[in-house]
Amino acid sequence: MADNGKDGEIDTSAAEAFEKYLVPTIFGPWSEAMIDHVRTEENHRLLDVGCGSGAAARYAAQIVGTGGSVSAIDFNAGMIAHARTLDPDRRVDWQQGDVTDMPYNDGAFDIVAGNQLLQFLPDKEKGLSEMKRVLVDKGRLALTVYCAPHRNPAHAAVATSLEKHGVDAKGVVHPFSFGDPVMLGDLLQDAGFKDVSVVRKQMDSYFPSAENFIECLAAGGPSSRHALEQLDADGLKSLKAEVTETLAEFVDPKKGLRVITAANMALARA
Ligand SMILES: C[S@@+](CC[C@H](N)C(=O)[O-])C[C@H]1O[C@@H](n2cnc3c(N)ncnc32)[C@H](O)[C@@H]1O
Repeated sequence: MADNGKDGEIDTSAAEAFEKYLVPTIFGPWSEAMIDHVRTEENHRLLDVGCGSGAAARYAAQIVGTGGSVSAIDFNAGMIAHARTLDPDRRVDWQQGDVTDMPYNDGAFDIVAGNQLLQFLPDKEKGLSEMKRVLVDKGRLALTVYCAPHRNPAHAAVATSLEKHGVDAKGVVHPFSFGDPVMLGDLLQDAGFKDVSVVRKQMDSYFPSAENFIECLAAGGPSSRHALEQLDADGLKSLKAEVTETLAEFVDPKKGLRVITAANMALARA
């Protein structure tokens, strides 16, 4: 999501497509794994940073119950607008805002969690310092960040094919640009977090076909869709054929295309 910044708004329909195609398959399972990994419990006050359409926040709200609270922040207006529609009972306090300058009091949360956010922050130190500020003393931080492109072969195949078609694939590869677990751990430690650990996890998601995977990215991948929309109809057809061939080894005749995502999950204490 290199280009979904304040100047590159995701409109609500793109947020809807993200929620419809990419949350059930990829972002939802990762968000839930992160909320479980950070040991979210009843009565916790949790903040979902870079919440997107709110998969982690909605899941956490079920766990913390009425004795706890969930807040969620994202700078993208379309994502927040769509997240609100998915939370008719208003169990989550949704905020449009920047995680490097958050509208919360010091020590307001027991847990801060962010799935696939950190790599998009130009000033990661500032973002981490804000996350530490809003955490209570000894509060817990969980951040999930994708491993390098070659550990995420389906996305890598789309990026390689885009480049072959003369399209800048930055939007597709940027989410995988901060994949070094040691750098991630060091960054957290340097930001003053304690008891830092980083574990690598891998998940398999299934899409009916490589073509369908590309269509989902084109509709709902906030930055990959901008890269893919640069292809004309023939270009897109040829890219689909090329990616289908590259990923043939990942096709299960019953389940479809296996999309592997690998990410580092960092845990730390304020
Ligand atoms: C890959 S999406 C992940 C969304 C969500 N965490 C999920 O797993 O479904 C990254 C999100 O981070 C948000 N984001 C990036 N930089 C941000 C910033 N500085 N402040 C707030 N949100 C930011 C984007 O708008 C986008 O919704």
